[in-house]
Amino acid sequence: MANALSTQAPRAIADPIVVDLGLVGPGKVGSALLAQLRLAAPRLLRDCNMQLRLRAVSDSRHMWLDCDDDALNGRIHGAQTWRPAALDEFAAYVASRGGQLTVLADCSASDVVADRYAGWLAAGIHVVTPNKRAASGPLERWRRIAEASHASGARLHYEGTVGAGLPVVRTLRDLLDTGDELVAVEGMLSGTLAWLFNRFDGSRPFSALVREAHALGYAEPDPRDDLSGMDVARKLVILAREAGLALSLDDVGVESLVPAELAEGDVDTFMKRLDRLDAPMAARLRPGGVLRHVATLENGRATVGLRVLDPAHAFAHARLSDNVVRFATRRYCDNALVVQGPGAGPEVTAAAVFADLLRVAGAMGVKRCAC
Ligand SMILES: NC(=O)c1ccc[n+]([C@@H]2O[C@H](COP(=O)([O-])OP(=O)(O)OC[C@H]3O[C@@H](n4cnc5c(N)ncnc54)[C@H](OP(=O)(O)O)[C@@H]3O)[C@@H](O)[C@H]2O)c1
Repeated sequence: MANALSTQAPRAIADPIVVDLGLVGPGKVGSALLAQLRLAAPRLLRDCNMQLRLRAVSDSRHMWLDCDDDALNGRIHGAQTWRPAALDEFAAYVASRGGQLTVLADCSASDVVADRYAGWLAAGIHVVTPNKRAASGPLERWRRIAEASHASGARLHYEGTVGAGLPVVRTLRDLLDTGDELVAVEGMLSGTLAWLFNRFDGSRPFSALVREAHALGYAEPDPRDDLSGMDVARKLVILAREAGLALSLDDVGVESLVPAELAEGDVDTFMKRLDRLDAPMAARLRPGGVLRHVATLENGRATVGLRVLDPAHAFAHARLSDNVVRFATRRYCDNALVVQGPGAGPEVTAAAVFADLLRVAGAMGVKRCAC
């Protein structure tokens, strides 16, 4: 048989597939995403025939339509102006630019933005996001989002919501889609709490470690957001729903590490009274065991809290602020499937959002490689 490649006429270069992109939330993750898109844009055009066009950016108060961005839309010194943020106007503007695909990247942590997803998806606008609010928020809203996506075919991807850049949601999805059955999920889903309990052995007061994490920027501006366990509970709800369980935040048994008397009040007051955590936390230490903050989903029950583990347990050996997720399934029954690595940080989280965007483009027919 003749070599088909040698006899073929040179392939005509088709017009690029234009992806119109709108960014909601140009904060730490959103800015890192823009930087990654700028770097990758020439390669995507060359190898995948895909042209990324940044059409608009919005924060909570302003939006920039047709903003200046030399690398992502060829505009510079376009006398860009902002106007008051209006999310529906913003989405309609991005969707009206004439590209083959419209994708909104929600890099906020806002319920107000999550409230718009169903409408955007119904209008054929794809959404990629590390924002946990939709996938862990009210079930009624989550159902409306799923229905809108099914009806229009527009995609919602949210890999960055659990484990930042680690392939956690996708791994669970792939296991279930290929017929495996989930037995249990066990995870260390907070980089901050992993960091704290990797160090807490009683040699230093717990409050000193929280202060250090705060000073190093490992903890949230208000460390109660980490210590309350609610962020981890949100991630567990996301995994539970991915596994087909109609779970809500209220269904998760969450052990807060914040004493009731410190739960209210401003951050400064909380930081001043932090040593009130020391005695209760020291009382949790056990000789011959290690303390870890663990999220568990088993037999439909979801719990989040401190556990004393055997020093031989895999969670006892995680490094620094690693996230670890163990999927015990029918296939992975003797030895669970483990996903482990850095589970926070703007760069890795932005990369998850970027990969979700490429997944949307791939599903819509854009080639992922040069061929
Ligand atoms: N940073 C990480 O390591 C990490 C890891 C995993 C997941 N995530 C998730 O990624 C998301 C972004 O995190 P981040 O660290 O980048 O936060 P961030 O720096 O605080 O940025 C949040 C951005 O969202 C914008 N925003 C807030 N409410 C909005 C609204 N109603 N409409 C439009 N924009 C709004 C903010 O604008 P304003 O300045 O106007 O408020 C800001 O630009 C969050 O959902 C977070 O949970 C972050």
